Amino acid sequence: MRNIRQRLGVRHRLRDPTKVKNDAQLRWWVEQWHPVIEAGGFNPGDVLELLDGEPAEADYLARRWQHARAEVVRVLREAAIEDPGFFEGKVVVDIGPGPLGFPDACPARVSIGVDPLAEAYRRSGLMIPDSPAIYLSTGGEAIPLLSSSVDVVLARNSLDFVDDPDRVLREAKRVLAPGGTLIALFDVDSTPSPREPHRLTNERVRGSLSGMNVVREHSWTQPFGHDGHRVVLVARKGAGSGP
Ligand SMILES: C[S@@+](CC[C@H](N)C(=O)[O-])C[C@H]1O[C@@H](n2cnc3c(N)ncnc32)[C@H](O)[C@@H]1O
Repeated sequence: MRNIRQRLGVRHRLRDPTKVKNDAQLRWWVEQWHPVIEAGGFNPGDVLELLDGEPAEADYLARRWQHARAEVVRVLREAAIEDPGFFEGKVVVDIGPGPLGFPDACPARVSIGVDPLAEAYRRSGLMIPDSPAIYLSTGGEAIPLLSSSVDVVLARNSLDFVDDPDRVLREAKRVLAPGGTLIALFDVDSTPSPREPHRLTNERVRGSLSGMNVVREHSWTQPFGHDGHRVVLVARKGAGSGP
């Protein structure tokens, strides 16, 4: 008996932390998030407020699109971007979108979601079908796009979930065209967990953005997770910057 326990203990310690993180992440969306939408609600619950009080659709898919459209409004508000057409005509990359739908509803010329769980979300029936968005089922640490080919990179509540936040930020800078915009929303000073293994600070994120010009910084007392607090940084890549 002791032997079996020991062997299980060893196996537990040897489990790849990225797999542990991804399994926990997928479970959260399947077990906590999706049932709320299937039952007729939204998660988070403020979707209809963001859509100026339009009534909830009875149909599941129509509600998914309401949720997706609300995420676009939410990001514009959080980043204090007043132009509702800000994303139009642009190439937009969302790092770590989850199945929420920002890339699907984003009115970009090309809208791309980069998430290592995208294929797993699809297999679990979480993705919006027939979306114009392109999803790349890969990590933001190595984005398979050309340097200087993207107008906007969004990373909302994903930097403390990734494998290597500093590499992700470097990739964001690399793919952004000169004059392009990074919108980063993240918790600082939060307690790491298997699902969110990184404790970020404003200084750490700003440190990875050298060569970019931070045009907006704002913080909220309310975190995305359990503790710490939420910050937004909006940064522009200098017109003269290389990739
Ligand atoms: C909490 S969700 C964020 C969902 C959404 N962006 C939002 O606004 O709430 C974090 C997402 O980051 C993704 N993620 C984890 N590791 C990643 C990586 N290395 N690169 C990109 N995304 C990653 C997870 O799979 C998950 O979908």
